Amino acid sequence: MVTKFKRADGREVDEIRPIEAKVGVVPSADGSAMFKSGNTIAIAAVYGPKKMHPQHQQNPAKGQLRCEYSMLSFSVSDRIKPGRNRRAMEISEITKWALEPVLMLDKYPNQVVDVFINIIQADAGTRCAGINAAAMALAHAGIPMTDIVSSVAIGKLDKTLVADLTKEEEDFEEGEGPTDIPITLTHEGKVTHMQLDGKIGVKQLGEALDLAKVACEKVYEVQKKALKDAIDMKNGGEK
Ligand code: CDP
Repeated sequence: MVTKFKRADGREVDEIRPIEAKVGVVPSADGSAMFKSGNTIAIAAVYGPKKMHPQHQQNPAKGQLRCEYSMLSFSVSDRIKPGRNRRAMEISEITKWALEPVLMLDKYPNQVVDVFINIIQADAGTRCAGINAAAMALAHAGIPMTDIVSSVAIGKLDKTLVADLTKEEEDFEEGEGPTDIPITLTHEGKVTHMQLDGKIGVKQLGEALDLAKVACEKVYEVQKKALKDAIDMKNGGEK
């Protein structure tokens, strides 16, 4: 797709940033992964399934997923205050919503799977990078899943839709300003998470979803390759 709209980093409107992924980056975790999109880097570590404590929180019908997102203090140039804040709590919760629909947690009654996401470097799209890393880390931990999820933020800068916003683009001030739409999709194309920060019409929201489908397919290919590389390495006798 080529339009006259000029992005600050020279990308086409439908072009995502260069992505990299690696599985097994935290050797002591049951599963782990790194996902990098441009200057945004997320690390996810999975612990479990393990018995839920305190005991009164156990659910005999199915296992539970707990997600904790945080940005490291050095992830942006203005030092982030350590500890839980409202934004981190919100992102932790939506990460759980994004991942839960594909996890077969009914296989783990009374148990819990913990997912920890840390943002090493932030240049927008950190919730999406965290979800992408977490999906790989869960697969690496061997948690059964019906599908894998991939996530990307679609933006509307004035009237133009663009894929995978940078922080500079999130701060776009011309015309109608910026709209940020993080979207998480299963590989089958089902939406497990969508947020909207800004304004957009119904028709253009449909177009944003189409753009997300194409972008998430590219994310999926990178996630799949990273998981396959980890399996090949294990089969080769290396960790
Ligand atoms: O990161 P994401 O786009 O998912 O979430 P956001 O709340 O829209 O944050 C956008 C960006 O703002 C982050 O990726 C960081 O680059 C930056 N940010 C920051 O500099 N300081 C914070 N306390 C929070 C976010």
